[in-house]
Amino acid sequence: MKPRIGILISGRGSNMAAIVAAAQDPSYPATIACVISNRPDAKGLETAAANGIPALCVDHKHFPSREEFEDELNRQLDDRDVDFVVLAGFMRVLTERFIGRWDGKLVNIHPSLLPSYRGLHTHERALSDGVKLHGCTVHFVVPELDAGPIIAQGAVRVRPSDTPETLAARVLAVENTLYPRVVAGLASGHIVLAGDQVIIDGPAAEGALISLA
Ligand code: GRF
Repeated sequence: MKPRIGILISGRGSNMAAIVAAAQDPSYPATIACVISNRPDAKGLETAAANGIPALCVDHKHFPSREEFEDELNRQLDDRDVDFVVLAGFMRVLTERFIGRWDGKLVNIHPSLLPSYRGLHTHERALSDGVKLHGCTVHFVVPELDAGPIIAQGAVRVRPSDTPETLAARVLAVENTLYPRVVAGLASGHIVLAGDQVIIDGPAAEGALISLA
């Protein structure tokens, strides 16, 4: 049986949709078990449901503490036999306890070339610094925000005419290509976290997780 993926979102869900689309190919090595949003109005929930993926909301506002919210997330993930948790625009900070529970099985995508531009407004900050390369990073999640061992990076050239919106759109296109590859590598055992080192072998080792557009 293929490893089962739970995807956590908070909004639009284009990365989630890209992974769901990739997983429709019978040769894809993972099954998308569920999509969970912490916000009831997340657009991505409709997209997931329209693709036949169990889509549900665990609204953080309904829980008195972060721990209780995460307990419910874990219950939902465990009910669906999830093996890996993929954060795709999920806008809640997770506790050490949750992160420890999914050690080596929890990944995130961030819209910058980490360790540059942790946090929010990455495209604006990159433009105002005048960097020539910007991009995205997929990494294992550790308690420190937007840190954690790096699995994959995609770079885009910054154009003189770029606005935060045009730059974000080009970065997002790279995110949408890179993330399904990372999920495939995790599910097939070709991407593994060993301590704080990422070990990549097989097809993914040949540069498929690095791109420059
Ligand atoms: C992406 O830019 C991702 O890097 C960041 O949040 C955004 C989510 O976009 N973590 P989407 O919901 O996947 O379209």
